[in-house]
Amino acid sequence: MQRLANKRILLGVTGSIAAYKAGEIIRRLRDAGADVRVVMTRGGAEFVTPMTFQALSGHPVHMHLLDTESEAGMGHIELARWADAICVAPASADFVSRLVHGRADDLLSAVCLASKVPLAIAPAMNGAMWANPATQANIRTLSSRGVVMLGPDEGEQACGETGTGRLQALQPLLEGLASLFERHILSGKTVVVTAGPTREAIDPVRYLSNHSSGKMGFSVATAAAEAGAHVILVAGPVSLPSPDRCERIDVISAQQMHDAVLAHVAQADIFIAAAAVADYRPVVNAADKIKKSRQTLTLELEPTTDILAEVSARYPRLFTVGFAAETRELEKHALEKLQHKRLDMIAANWVGPAAEETAGTFGSDTNALKLFWPGGQAELTVTSKWKLARQLIEHVAQCYDTRHHHIDRTDAKVVMMPDVGRTPSR
Ligand code: PMT
Repeated sequence: MQRLANKRILLGVTGSIAAYKAGEIIRRLRDAGADVRVVMTRGGAEFVTPMTFQALSGHPVHMHLLDTESEAGMGHIELARWADAICVAPASADFVSRLVHGRADDLLSAVCLASKVPLAIAPAMNGAMWANPATQANIRTLSSRGVVMLGPDEGEQACGETGTGRLQALQPLLEGLASLFERHILSGKTVVVTAGPTREAIDPVRYLSNHSSGKMGFSVATAAAEAGAHVILVAGPVSLPSPDRCERIDVISAQQMHDAVLAHVAQADIFIAAAAVADYRPVVNAADKIKKSRQTLTLELEPTTDILAEVSARYPRLFTVGFAAETRELEKHALEKLQHKRLDMIAANWVGPAAEETAGTFGSDTNALKLFWPGGQAELTVTSKWKLARQLIEHVAQCYDTRHHHIDRTDAKVVMMPDVGRTPSR
């Protein structure tokens, strides 16, 4: 299930006989490409030892709220920040009740309380406990707060009774978890995204390129698809699997990327240029391999077409988002690009050295961005590229709506500089 790839899932395991099934959930999540960390309650550990889940998840299992060692490493706040989603499976009647009351006196309930990410619970308990008005009221309360209910199923139970209260079957549970990442903020929209580097041939065996891995652009495409858009991903040469529900077009050179983008943007609503397109290419692509000699070799380079600038000029109604990869004066250069290329938004991306807060950017799994758009800005602090892409798409959807509200009246694209002195609007 591609939709769970690269997602960080925090799995809570509480005191229920169904705790043993959590092992299979971990295995299947990891098969789907998710990173899983497990938090167990004391009750959960009565049924299955933490060692089992440690072996299956590949990470230490977290159990204690007031453990100085884990608080210094990955304590409850770090776990809450780390996760893209929390799933408590199985969730006992007692845990459901604790969640309703906002308790924070054990690690799992504290993490749930401290987290802002989607929370799903898969209740598992005896049928009478499930049917009890107290449990039913608790479930209604949690649902009304946006907690997603996965199950329970009906059938034979460990206690020998038959009824509702079994842990939801694995496949629908995983489907439900994957749908936690779906929103509909771009439903009905077509989004063209560029990603990765380009390669500009010098001769049949050599090329000019850059360090882009495509991770940022692929995360943007994934987040747009999860937001309900039809996504066309124009990808440079990268070794990444295609995101779910994206139409992928593979290209090599800047010219091919240009042609693929231009063939699709006329029907699109939004264009997001995350690719690191080569700015120059060799004037001559030698037919044969250039022979080594002791002389210096001079390559004559010519500029490639700026895809983003051309798209923005030719399709003024299209909502255009650029990235600005900079090693100095990030904000200044990003704002210049926003204005010169007449964009609706720019994502300023520090790619210089000592980028501790961005953990490397090129090729890494994390990044940080500063967004600027006419009249506003937002700082997206360091996190996984996937989470960042999701935040970017939220801003894009908001600004797209605002712009279309105005453009319907004026039919013109107004490019104003953001008020950079303002407090970030997020
Ligand atoms: O791929 P990763 O390893 O995950 O790394 C992500 C990233 C650093 C590549 C990405 O976040 C990023 O910053 N992408 C833009 C890189 C870049 O080329 O920036 P630029 O400042 O040189 O270009 C400005 C904008 O013009 C970009 O949106 C670029 O896609 C676009 N452009 C540039 C040149 C060109 N010929 N055509 C273009 O469309």
